[in-house]
Amino acid sequence: MIGVGVIGYGYWGPNLVRNFAEAPGSSVAAVADVHPERIALARRRYPMIEMTTDYRDLLVDARIDAIAIATPVSTHFELAMQALQSGKHVLVEKPLAATSEQAIQLIEEAERRNQVLMVDHTFVYTGAVRKIQELVTGNELGDIYYYDSVRVNLGLFQHDVNVIWDLAVHDVSIMDFVLPSRPCAVSATGMSHVAGEPENIAYLTLFFEGSLIAHIHVNWLAPVKVRRTLLGGSRKMIVYDDLEPSEKVKVYDKGITINESSESVYQMLISYRTGDMWAPQLDITEALRTEVLHFIQCIEKGARPITGGEAELRIVRILETATQSMAERGRLVELDFERVTT
Ligand SMILES: NC(=O)c1ccc[n+]([C@@H]2O[C@H](COP(=O)([O-])OP(=O)(O)OC[C@H]3O[C@@H](n4cnc5c(N)ncnc54)[C@H](O)[C@@H]3O)[C@@H](O)[C@H]2O)c1
Repeated sequence: MIGVGVIGYGYWGPNLVRNFAEAPGSSVAAVADVHPERIALARRRYPMIEMTTDYRDLLVDARIDAIAIATPVSTHFELAMQALQSGKHVLVEKPLAATSEQAIQLIEEAERRNQVLMVDHTFVYTGAVRKIQELVTGNELGDIYYYDSVRVNLGLFQHDVNVIWDLAVHDVSIMDFVLPSRPCAVSATGMSHVAGEPENIAYLTLFFEGSLIAHIHVNWLAPVKVRRTLLGGSRKMIVYDDLEPSEKVKVYDKGITINESSESVYQMLISYRTGDMWAPQLDITEALRTEVLHFIQCIEKGARPITGGEAELRIVRILETATQSMAERGRLVELDFERVTT
């Protein structure tokens, strides 16, 4: 049985506590939050779990093998580093850290100590995204042409990170998981509409070797909630609508065929293919449960988590480089995934 401590009982922390409390193979030994009212709330729901306003109590608690961190992004590095150095396995909320240099330090600390360092990229563990990955890997879509995503709503404004780090991080982690190749450059634009606060709207364009292109549009200031991704391929195309209650993933047998029999390019004929649409059956297990079980298994077997390590470094680098590009009004910036500290 893996003893777990959870730091941060705000919006997302309660989901981690519930899942670790319910999962076979783990039990929650203690929860820490700096705000006494959050602790009071947690105590009412879990009277048997120890509650504290000082996270350091968890670091020295011998019943705790692993620590889950659900605090604001700016605190991730310090808390995760202290947890690792106290000999605990760590599950950190997305994104792992605020800079790639911090991410490298955490990844290397975990590797040196042979401890699991996993990042909660919840979408990667959904039935929908796992099905898309299966379809892409099985070459169902043919050559991938584009990934096009809109993730907007009247969202909670974060004060320590811009909308790229809060919302585009989901798409960047999904792309890293499902796409066969990695981006080589990014251009991002965005704007803040609240003085002194980070950008609340952003548009990212990611370029890959070849003709694959990705676009991500994120916004905390939209009147409606949209969570829709299009994946276009040479053979089939996918529409993934996370707000659909049941048929979240639809696969369209649509596309074009180019007949190059004519003598000149002006006479090239494009014919359209409009075949069937099908919605594959999806695993409806709560993503966080799948994820928590994966984390426990990685600890028990000494395995590498799906979301962590090099993949996480790529994700943080993309977010960091996009933010840099945004500060320079969309200048195209090359992406470098080498693990070199700057
Ligand atoms: N995986 C997802 O889908 C998902 C969804 C929402 C948020 N998140 C992530 O979860 C993290 C937290 O976001 P949130 O929306 O829950 O924020 P939040 O502000 O609602 O909650 C954070 C909590 O952490 C506590 N806290 C801060 N510093 C602390 C410290 N040093 N020790 C103990 N407690 C401390 C705060 O008091 C607060 O209760 C962020 O990294 C965010 O990106 C992930």
